[in-house]
Amino acid sequence: QAEPEVRTATGTPADLPRGRAQQGEYLTTAQGARLTDTDHSLKAGRRGPILLQDHHFREKITHFDHERIPERVVHARGAGAHGVFRATGAASSITRAQFLQKDVETPVFVRFSTVLGSRGSADTVRDTRGFATKFYTEEGTFDLVGNNIPVFFIQDAIKFPDVVHAAKPHPDREIPQAQSAHDTFWDFVSLHTEATAHTMWNMSDRGIPRSYRMMEGFGVHTFRVVNAEGDTALVKFHWKPRLGVHSLVWEEAQLINGFDPDFHRRDLADAIEAGAYPEWDLGVQVFPDTPEQVFEGIDLLDPTKIVPEELAPVQIIGTMVLNANPTNFFAETEQVAFHPGHLVPGIDVTDDPLLQGRLFSYLDTQLTRLGGPNFGQIPINRPHAPVNDMFRDGFHQHAVHTGVAPYKPNSLDAGCPFMAGVTEGAFVDLPVEVPAAKKEREVSRSFDDHYTQVRQFYLSLSEIEQDHVAYAYTFELGKCYEQSIKERQLQILANIDTGLCEKVAAGLGLPAPKPTVEVSDLPQSPALAQVGKTWPVQ
Ligand code: HEM
Repeated sequence: QAEPEVRTATGTPADLPRGRAQQGEYLTTAQGARLTDTDHSLKAGRRGPILLQDHHFREKITHFDHERIPERVVHARGAGAHGVFRATGAASSITRAQFLQKDVETPVFVRFSTVLGSRGSADTVRDTRGFATKFYTEEGTFDLVGNNIPVFFIQDAIKFPDVVHAAKPHPDREIPQAQSAHDTFWDFVSLHTEATAHTMWNMSDRGIPRSYRMMEGFGVHTFRVVNAEGDTALVKFHWKPRLGVHSLVWEEAQLINGFDPDFHRRDLADAIEAGAYPEWDLGVQVFPDTPEQVFEGIDLLDPTKIVPEELAPVQIIGTMVLNANPTNFFAETEQVAFHPGHLVPGIDVTDDPLLQGRLFSYLDTQLTRLGGPNFGQIPINRPHAPVNDMFRDGFHQHAVHTGVAPYKPNSLDAGCPFMAGVTEGAFVDLPVEVPAAKKEREVSRSFDDHYTQVRQFYLSLSEIEQDHVAYAYTFELGKCYEQSIKERQLQILANIDTGLCEKVAAGLGLPAPKPTVEVSDLPQSPALAQVGKTWPVQ
């Protein structure tokens, strides 16, 4: 198989701009004046105080003092890689997105991450993993900002600060640093039963992946696509790793955290350096765009539910190869800014209330994290499509704009490329009907079932995988101080599966409660037994 050409955000890795700070043969000040000494400050006598006059000393220390930027409020720890996505063309019938047409190759940058730990935390903790991909398409940048788990903790973005506060370390002692074993996390998920599905995925082997190269990725939400004829469909995005899905066992994960906290980061970089480029197929589950947005009884706007692949097979639409490591971690992996609202013509969002909230949050946080509104000019964030916006000035403005009339239409600047109403090649907001509605804070009643799919997922696991789940709940709940939290979580487990509840209760030395909700006895068809495990964990 021919190796794809290595192309990155700015061309080839070798083309990444070194910036004005690394030119010429000699060490200089930031102003380019050649230095003779960078090891000794200018003092009043050999044993005297440092002089305020020492500009080089002050410039060097000041710059160092400001080297750190805030870490991401979530997903702070990550590892990135460059690559290429090549479309099969199978998606042409459902979307007009140029990068999904047959044989089109698009440069990508991917950042994998844990969610809860800080920048310096360990890699092999039990947690969800982020899987965010930036496609530098000719029609603008498309970001697929997903996770390695196909469901999410909450159904409405307004609870995101709450679930993150509950899952981050305790506010008083800031422990534990990077795992879910604590009272606030279990308090939250036992009081918000919509979190049950995501929690079960976290307690399964999916919560401790063997390698970033061996993880699935999920867009989680349902997206709307539109083709050249204007027909729409609903889709869910899936990344399928060519290496299969593999996990660690808990004891391995614990040992590795001690021996090599950079295990996943090192694994990804080493594999790429050795030429063992990881690959993923991108696939979609496709659903008709009906007014109800419900498929086989599953509400497609509920991000705590999956659609089993047996009901809607994943159809492969392209392949991604990661074939180049970042040249500089800070410039690329740290400064990259993903956003679920970075869309291209042919792909649009739906009204999933979690996705709707995300559309606000990412830009908002990046304004602080990346120091103002011009972070789109940082090399890793620059679109490959030409950018011609009306944005001017602001902190860290690097562009030297021309013209006198930064508004459209205008009669002063020549060469105005903008013609209002011309839709050819443009991102057109789909005129989707919004049903007549009252303003209210309630969610749809179709979001209410918090147990059926969790039971389906648990029953789809092999006996060994089920034991791992029981052990994970026992270990994590065993770290809680509050007995009432353990009891409330046991009640939830009883509602999923009494056998699971009994195992965990025995491990915790507590009585197993009886179920309080009726979980429909699910058909044990071979198809359903496969739900959630495209590849067996080895
Ligand atoms: C960061 C995924 C829900 C707010 C991230 C990242 C991923 C991700 C992969 C890391 C991006 C990177 O590598 O730079 C998801 C998924 C979600 C979800 C799959 C649900 C399905 C939410 C919600 C909110 C939110 C509901 C807020 C309402 C954030 C913020 C960041 C972030 C503030 C940090 C961004 C930055 O500093 O650049 N998310 N997230 N996320 N997410 Fe989410």
